[in-house]
Parts: sequence; structure tokens; C-alpha cells
Amino acid sequence: MMRRCLVVVLGGAVACAGESPTTPPKGPTWHQGVASILEPSCGACHRPGGIQADIDLTTFEGAYAWREAIGVAVAARTMPPFPAGDSDQCEMSAPFVDDPRLSDAEIATVVEWVQRGAPEGEPEEAWPVPSPEVSHLERIDQQLRMPQPVAVPPSSVVRDRILCVVMDPMREEPGWLQGVEVLVDNASVVHHVRLNLTERSFAAERDASDGQIDGTYLCKGRDYTTPIGGYAPGMGPQVYPAGSGIRITPDDVVVAAIHYHMADDAQVDDTQVALQWARGEAVVQARIFKTDTARTAEAGLLPGPGDDGEVEFRIPAGAANHTETTLFEVPQGLGPQLRVFSTLGHMHYVGSSFRMWVERADGSQGPCLLSIPQWDFDWQLFYDVDLEEPGAPVLAPGDQIYVECTYDNTLTNPEVARILEEEGLSEPRDFTYGTSSNAEMCSMMIGVVPGEG
Ligand code: HEC
Repeated sequence: MMRRCLVVVLGGAVACAGESPTTPPKGPTWHQGVASILEPSCGACHRPGGIQADIDLTTFEGAYAWREAIGVAVAARTMPPFPAGDSDQCEMSAPFVDDPRLSDAEIATVVEWVQRGAPEGEPEEAWPVPSPEVSHLERIDQQLRMPQPVAVPPSSVVRDRILCVVMDPMREEPGWLQGVEVLVDNASVVHHVRLNLTERSFAAERDASDGQIDGTYLCKGRDYTTPIGGYAPGMGPQVYPAGSGIRITPDDVVVAAIHYHMADDAQVDDTQVALQWARGEAVVQARIFKTDTARTAEAGLLPGPGDDGEVEFRIPAGAANHTETTLFEVPQGLGPQLRVFSTLGHMHYVGSSFRMWVERADGSQGPCLLSIPQWDFDWQLFYDVDLEEPGAPVLAPGDQIYVECTYDNTLTNPEVARILEEEGLSEPRDFTYGTSSNAEMCSMMIGVVPGEG
């Protein structure tokens, strides 16, 4: 309804039925057509207390002050941050769940508004502004707390930190998790959260590694064990497909990897995690496939450009368009069909694009699973697919999943320039495989549940 109205307004001087502004609209104004786009799409982050509160897009004054930058970011589709998108070689077969991207008509409206000097319009005649749709778990069966609230230092001390926090569900017998939701306490510093399932003994070892047994430690790559969900601003809970769940044993703990993006002043955060457990109903196993050790041919790494004799993971200094590709074979024994409900791509800072697609066991081309044309380290999102969509991808045993990562290891990549400067180097160097953020990775995760058939 709203969308159709906007097109009409753009297309000519016709007011839309139902909205009835008194004066004929000359073009979009804040109150007539723009707030109703920007508040729901941007307000989760750009509001007082949000992760990017400096830019307040919930008021006319706030938006007006940033009008030029808004026009640029919206036209370039860099905001809202959602790096996945079709590319020439990889066109996704089904839409994403909760895709926050603006439509072409919405972008045109915002750009036109900026070009006309960002008028406020008539507050008395304001169009209704839909509030952001926030969904929640159907039921909270258990709420996990941090061992103690986290003291978040000011940005003058450290800009970013990814802290692993152990949260123990203390199960006495195995159970099936149906959904998780991060209950963010301090949204002005919590940039995003990744929830992992980890063996208690491994978490304890990691906890002790910093000489302080307090249930927290700085996350390293190998801490991203079995992902079970997460949070990014505006994102709802992770609920596994109906009738499925993730099995949790008494040996498992939840480790929340919380990416803190520091504020000007010191803050405290007491984020919690809500769990929804199955209550005795039949549950099929939701599984997460992943390739996070793909550094050798045995682990699925394919021969690539620049290999020196044997297959190696090495991004040569100065290479602008280097690719590393990994192969993952869908295992036998999990049923004839697996339906994909979530995907994720992972690289570090040298990455420039990501692509993952399927080749069937008979050699025919399968669907594109994920395409990220412009890699952004800061926005590594899980991309959920609605299983009810006709094009939702289905995998079969023996299918080959190709994971292709492209890297720009030149000084034109600002992240490479930054890393080299931090290391006191003036010329590019090779990057090899490693879990620390000044090495590189190329990995994926795919959430699947058994399909019918
Ligand atoms: C999920 C959180 C989030 C949402 C949603 C979001 N932004 Fe942002 N925005 C940020 C963050 C964080 C930054 C700081 C730079 C960065 O990290 O990319 C930013 C930066 C900006 C900037 C500064 C210039 C730039 O491009 O870096 C503008 C302008 C902007 N956002 C506009 C918008 C608009 C308009 C929308 C909605 C259409 C929007 N943002 C939605 C998080 C968000």
C-alpha cells in the first residue's frame, strides 16, 4: 500500500487515496513519504541509544543534518548494511527473510527528497510511520546471564573488542533448542553478537588462557565453534525451522562472542540470552555445515592462482583479484534431501567478494547459495531463507558446494593499507591462512534440516 503510494507520488502530482494531504504534493517531504521509509529502515541503529546514535534518523532535524550523506549512502545501497546481493555469476534462487534493503522506489523517493533540499513538510499531515517490526521468541524457557556485567572502556582506550562470554545453560540431560534470542542491554556499544555452542572444557581452557578465570576472554577464530544464532541491530531471534532443533548436551555451554564498538565514555553492558527449548515434541536435527579449516587440499582447498608447486592458501602481495576456492561435499547418511535455512560467508580484511554455489553430484549446476559482491568485515550476517519459498535451495548427498573468496591485497584496499601501517610496512606482504584478523580465512556456514522426500 505504502509502496504503491510512493510510486504514484513520484510519477506525477497525484495524491494517493487514503493519505489525503491537503495541498497537492510537489515531491516527497520528511513527513510525507520520507520518515515512513527511513524510520523503520534505519532507526534500529540511527536513534538515541542506538549503535550509530550520532546520526539520528528518527527526527526531521537529525535527518536534515545528514541529508547529503543519506542521499549518497542510500543511492549507493551501502545503507542499510546488508552486503549480500546478486552478482553476475551468482543469482540467489529465493528471497531472504527480513531483507532490510530499500526498494528502487524507496531509494528514488529519498534521493528526490535530498535533491529538493530535504523539506520538512506538514507535521500535522504526517503519513503514518510504521514502527520497525521486532519479533521475539514465542516463549522464553531459560534466560542466560553473563557471569558479571562487562565494563566497556571508552573509545579512547580501545575502539573495538570482541569478547567471548561463557553462559552456561547447566543442563542435566540433553535437550533440543528451538530458538535463541540475544537480549541486548546496552545497544550503544553492542555492535553484533555471535552465539556459539562449545564444550564446557574447551571454554574453561580458553577462559583460563588470559590468566583470569572470570568467564570472559578475548575471542579468537577458533572460538567460533558451532554457531547457533546471533544478533545485529534490527535483527530478531534465531528460530530453527518448524519441527527442528539443535541438540544440546550437559557438556555444552553457550559462548556469546560480543563485538563491542566503544562509545566516547565508559559503559556497562549486561546482555542476556533467551532460550526456547522443545517440550517433548518430536524434533529433527538442524545441522550447521562449515568449512573453517580449509587451508590444505585434504581439507578441501582447490588449486588456485599463485600456488607454488602444491595447493596452498596464499594471497600474494600486490594481487588485486586473487581467489581461493574450497570444496565441501554434502555428506551421506543425513537423508535424501536437506533444506537450507541459513548461510554465512567468512573472510577477514583482505576480502573483496564472496560466492558460494552448488554443483550437483551428476555434474549439473545447482543454485547459488550466497553472493556478497562487496565484502564488508563489519557486517558478517547470517542470511536466512524461508523454507516455504518455492526457490529455497535444497541439497542432496554428494552435492559439491564451491566456496569462492576473492581478495584485494593491494594498497587500494584501505584495510590492507591499515594493517600494513600497523605493522610498520610500506609494501604489501603475502597473507596466509590463520584465524587472527591479520591473517586470512575463507569459510562458510550452512544451516540445514532434513527435507521431505
Ligand atoms: C544495522 C545498523 C544500521 C542500519 C539499519 C543503518 N545504518 Fe547507517 N550506519 C550504521 C553504522 C554502524 C554506521 C557507521 C559506519 C559503518 O559502520 O559503516 C553508519 C553510517 C551511516 C552514514 C554515514 C555515512 C556512511 O555511509 O558511512 C549514513 C549517512 C547512514 N548510515 C545512513 C543510513 C540510512 C539512510 C539508513 C537506512 C536506509 C541506515 N543508515 C541504516 C549502521 C546502520
